[in-house]
Amino acid sequence: MPESTSPLAIRDLEPGDVDTLVEIAIAAWAPIYGHFRETMGDDLFLSLYPDWPAIKGGQIRQDCDPDSRWPMQVLVAEEGGRIVGFVTFRTNRETSLGEIGNNAVWPECRGRGIAPRLYDAALQRMREQGMRYARVRTGLDPAHAPARRAYEKAGFDIALPAVDYYRAL
Ligand SMILES: CC(C)(COP(=O)(O)OP(=O)(O)OC[C@H]1O[C@@H](n2cnc3c(N)ncnc32)[C@H](O)[C@@H]1OP(=O)(O)O)[C@@H](O)C(=O)NCCC(=O)NCCS
Repeated sequence: MPESTSPLAIRDLEPGDVDTLVEIAIAAWAPIYGHFRETMGDDLFLSLYPDWPAIKGGQIRQDCDPDSRWPMQVLVAEEGGRIVGFVTFRTNRETSLGEIGNNAVWPECRGRGIAPRLYDAALQRMREQGMRYARVRTGLDPAHAPARRAYEKAGFDIALPAVDYYRAL
């Protein structure tokens, strides 16, 4: 996709955005779930993720639902009237830790620094809400390499690596 000439605007979620966010998420996570399936094998993968688009879409709808038990705050990035990415986040007054959750950019819009702009805006909101630190969790697998890079560019510089082990029984 050619470089966009429209400026990028970051704004709050509007109710009519949710279907687009689900579409972006499903397009963005397809290679990640593809990698999971290749690594885990069909049997394990399908027992955990029988319908990953429905699972991921459900997460995004829940993130965007102000009446959900764990509502997230959601910012969207818009370019020339088109939503190109989004970030979800929450704040915790007890720990003063803000947390970035699901976030994604349309595959054809990646590599232009859109996600770091979204993270910066989310981090600023966290500061305004009294947070002292921010956390984001991601995978150490190759499919999450762009996410790790984007988080590092946004200043996440303290890391506690973790791993999920599986075995057949
Ligand atoms: C993570 C994500 C939101 C980053 O968005 P982005 O706007 O492309 O972020 P950036 O422009 O800063 O690019 C980050 C890195 O992606 C990689 N990248 C660049 N172009 C790319 C492309 N066309 N396709 C894939 N990755 C690309 C580069 O390593 C880049 O780092 P660089 O700027 O040092 O070259 C996006 O890759 C995405 O939607 N990924 C799938 C969903 C996901 O992983 N979400 C986070 C879950 S924890």
